[in-house]
Amino acid sequence: MKKFITIILSLTLALTVLTSCADTNQVDTFKIGLIQLVEHSSLDEIRTAFTDQIAESAKKNGLQIEIDYQNAQNDMTTINTICQKFVADNVDLIVAIATPAAQGAAAAVQGTNIPVIFSAITDPIAAELVLDLDAPEGNITGTSDAIPVDKIFDLADELTPGNKKYGVVYNLGEDNSVSVVKQAKEYLESKGIELIESPITSSTEAQLAAQNLVGKCDAIFVPIDNTVANAMSILAEEAIKTKTPVYAAADSLVGDGALASVGVNYTNLGKQTADMALKAITGTAIKDIPVEVLKDNSVTVNTDTATKIGVDVSKYAK
Ligand code: TRP
Repeated sequence: MKKFITIILSLTLALTVLTSCADTNQVDTFKIGLIQLVEHSSLDEIRTAFTDQIAESAKKNGLQIEIDYQNAQNDMTTINTICQKFVADNVDLIVAIATPAAQGAAAAVQGTNIPVIFSAITDPIAAELVLDLDAPEGNITGTSDAIPVDKIFDLADELTPGNKKYGVVYNLGEDNSVSVVKQAKEYLESKGIELIESPITSSTEAQLAAQNLVGKCDAIFVPIDNTVANAMSILAEEAIKTKTPVYAAADSLVGDGALASVGVNYTNLGKQTADMALKAITGTAIKDIPVEVLKDNSVTVNTDTATKIGVDVSKYAK
């Protein structure tokens, strides 16, 4: 009997040694749940830069990374369903592009160890994702495209001087926009300029909101609002009809017809998000990965729109 037990024991030992050898040859596979709020050009640009960069880093580091990409169609219920599924699948990391998606991810991972890296969050503190940008205390960190509100209005003042009334179209349900509109209001009030708000709750309302504003204001301001971004070309068309300049907070909004913007480079932002994601899955604690706020802003102008409304943007045209 004793001999039999010894044989069994040595067999078990041999098996353990064998499997651990096999383990060392195996490449670890990390699973990332990637959620994007909605497909508009700026968020698509971020996602492409993110996935390209993470694939390149995985190759360099000999890692196997699997990405489960889901588009939430700008719908809160869909966001929650997607994030709960990521948690049920026990992904190694959730990456969330745009504020409402990141808020859904943050809610879903509560009570789990799954970290979240957010991407392109205009105001991570106002969105209640972190309390301190330099030392994220929860299991959540990421990149921010904080808006240089004053720079946008200074550019507006240079291109079309003397604006006394601005209109703003945004979705009250997006914390990213609410925070920026508050800043814009404070800045404009300090200069004795009025801001007329035209809130919307879905992209289909953007056209009417623009029609209501154009007669009442000298220029329109569009924050980095995902709901407006989805209908930007329609809004821009309404503004062009009445030669109203539209100043926006992201280059993609200018691509869709706004006159000019000051904002960050979203390809760089996507790559930075990928670098942070790689750190998180390879063992760096989230609290040691500070939020990165993109600082390099550049001016983008739409020369077609400029010609149509008769504004000289040649100084900034590439
Ligand atoms: N910053 C936005 C957010 O926090 C997301 C975003 C990135 C965006 N690029 C944009 C929105 C361009 C509108 C247009 O949700």
